[in-house]
Amino acid sequence: MRRKIVAGNWKMNTTVAEGIELAKAVVAVKDEAKAGVELILGAPFTHLASVIDAVRGTNIAVAAQNCADHEKGAYTGEISAPMLAGLGVQYVILGHSERRQYYGETSETLNAKMALCYANGMAPIYCIGENLAEREAEKHFDICRKQIEEVVFNLTPEQFSKIIIAYEPVWAIGTGKTATAEQAEEIHAFVRNVLKEKFGEEAAQSTPILYGGSCKPSNAAELFSKIDVDGGLIGGAALKADDFLGIAKAF
Ligand code: PGA
Repeated sequence: MRRKIVAGNWKMNTTVAEGIELAKAVVAVKDEAKAGVELILGAPFTHLASVIDAVRGTNIAVAAQNCADHEKGAYTGEISAPMLAGLGVQYVILGHSERRQYYGETSETLNAKMALCYANGMAPIYCIGENLAEREAEKHFDICRKQIEEVVFNLTPEQFSKIIIAYEPVWAIGTGKTATAEQAEEIHAFVRNVLKEKFGEEAAQSTPILYGGSCKPSNAAELFSKIDVDGGLIGGAALKADDFLGIAKAF
């Protein structure tokens, strides 16, 4: 049985007080989610301790949205994987397209971040996906393959067994333009096949592959009905507990 996961990526939204309120609102409605669906809240660094407090005693997990590519030292302004693990953070979103695009994340930095994430007992939510020009040039398969090969293929089987992958077409993120369920399934199945080449059928079959990009309660059911779509990484719609729950009900 493959895991079913709905992960919120709050990005750079909410104050700490608003974030606590949002986390508490999710806790209040969580039991209405489909049984067995795992909920993860991806909060800003400043919110993590309070959000972890707010979800304590529930099965909701908390994710950071990034971590440093060094363990410690003179890296002003960075937040390290040990700092996150020390708070009780369970997941780190790595390789989000906004980080690749605006902060110059490369496979090289992502390899370092992945290693530190695992070394500190956390699991990555590793994001891949093509931009509009790449989709129009029909390069989306190549792009996703490269983002997997250059980073995920460096993991040990043990590390790989803990990864969550999120396919997020950049042209669908925050644009209101969702990939069709068929487009999502096509690339999710492709990604699973690429994973199979390296890690084998069984490991590839049990890897959760989430869809991200304008996923909302109204389109989640159709996306999640596809065999290789195991849930969502949710941006905008994760900022309202009811919408987030609506997605978690959509399996
Ligand atoms: P969106 O963002 O749901 O607002 O499109 C998804 C993401 O970037 O993770």
